Amino acid sequence: MMMMILTQKSLMFRLLVLLLFSSAIPTYSQQADVKSWCGKTPYPQPCVYYLSGHPTLNVSISQKPDFLALSIRLALDRANLARDHTHSLGSKCRDESEKAAWYDCLQLYDQTILRLNHTVGLQCTQTDAQTWLSTALTNLETCHAGFAELAVTDYVFPMMSNNVSKLISNALALNYAPYSPSTEYSGGLPTWLKPGDRKLLQASSPASQANIVVAQDGSGNYKTINEAITAASKRSGTSRYIIYIKTGVYNENVEVGNKLKNIMFVGDGMGKTIITGSRSVGGGYTTFRSATVAAVGDGFIARDLTIRNTAGSSTANRVKWGGYHTINSSTEASRFTVGSFIAGNSWLPATGVAFTAGL
Ligand SMILES: *[C@@H]1O[C@H](CO)[C@@H](O)[C@H](O)[C@H]1NC(C)=O
Ligand SMILES: *[C@@H]1O[C@H](CO)[C@@H](O)[C@H](O)[C@H]1NC(C)=O
Ligand SMILES: *[C@@H]1O[C@H](CO)[C@@H](O)[C@H](O)[C@H]1NC(C)=O
Ligand SMILES: *[C@@H]1O[C@H](CO)[C@@H](O)[C@H](O)[C@H]1NC(C)=O
Repeated sequence: MMMMILTQKSLMFRLLVLLLFSSAIPTYSQQADVKSWCGKTPYPQPCVYYLSGHPTLNVSISQKPDFLALSIRLALDRANLARDHTHSLGSKCRDESEKAAWYDCLQLYDQTILRLNHTVGLQCTQTDAQTWLSTALTNLETCHAGFAELAVTDYVFPMMSNNVSKLISNALALNYAPYSPSTEYSGGLPTWLKPGDRKLLQASSPASQANIVVAQDGSGNYKTINEAITAASKRSGTSRYIIYIKTGVYNENVEVGNKLKNIMFVGDGMGKTIITGSRSVGGGYTTFRSATVAAVGDGFIARDLTIRNTAGSSTANRVKWGGYHTINSSTEASRFTVGSFIAGNSWLPATGVAFTAGL
């Protein structure tokens, strides 16, 4: 009985202390905490700037994971604000090019927010967090690149300025997971693949399980892939949805958006079912819009088809970014071969696709 009362008293006391110190203005020690933790990141200034006195991000930091979680929440908060701000700039666009680059950015901010959301609360593994944070950062880079590619960096672009990329870089540096090619394969497919998807990728005739069929001769449900995508977007639920695309050359740009989950494309074979596009930066598109097939929805898989972009190597300004340079050393080039860059040796042989591992 005695113990019980004592416990309640000390609880009361702690509550009182908490109340006394929980005003929105951070205490001196919290400020010092923030400064020293931010000092460990690549961009300490925006870190201190936003965390000092942030009313909802005032959790006490005792260990690195606390600070990492805080940094991710901060990046997500600022990305949400940046997205809303970007949205409000739509009416300021003066021409089609500005509008196009701006529109890419809206979508890219949405995807960034989605990916940051996966890592918030540290509910995924460190390696997955590394992937999502890198994706989030790359999306913003792609947004910025779009303005440069369409040569419209002078007006709307400066108004979009924010510190979100720096905040994501900070989270990425804190999360740092050294690269380890730990993915294990069985039967040529990564072991993390769901058993149902594994079966579909290995089945001899997955087309027989199709939910919808695309055929140019009218023997299917639709004649174009985009019509099938529209139909797929009206389905309820997110279970695996198979679009069988019969032999033919489909001159389409296809987008599997982030709301379209677990879509599978099945063709009649490499070189038989061909999805072809010819967009390029030289042709007036951003790199983001140049993809023939852009799949951002989770769980997208495809087999037995060819996806190509015929814009060709003569197209000017295909790649125009700060880090661009011509590789003239074989040592450097060998890092970007199928063998090293995508660890092709470990999984490609089982697919039967012809490839050259090295230079
Ligand atoms: C953080 O701020 C909120 C709202 O201002 C408050 O309820 C909470 O107690 C504060 N937490 C700390 C650790 O100061
Ligand atoms: C970005 O952060 C800096 C502090 O490093 C701050 O001075 C600046 O106002 C921030 N920029 C924006 C657009 O919020
Ligand atoms: C993450 O996304 C889910 C689902 O859209 C949403 O309910 C949740 O509020 C988001 N979390 C944050 C921290 O934004
Ligand atoms: C490779 O390119 C760099 C810069 O473009 C140049 O300085 C260097 O001499 C080149 N090396 C060879 C082996 O051609």
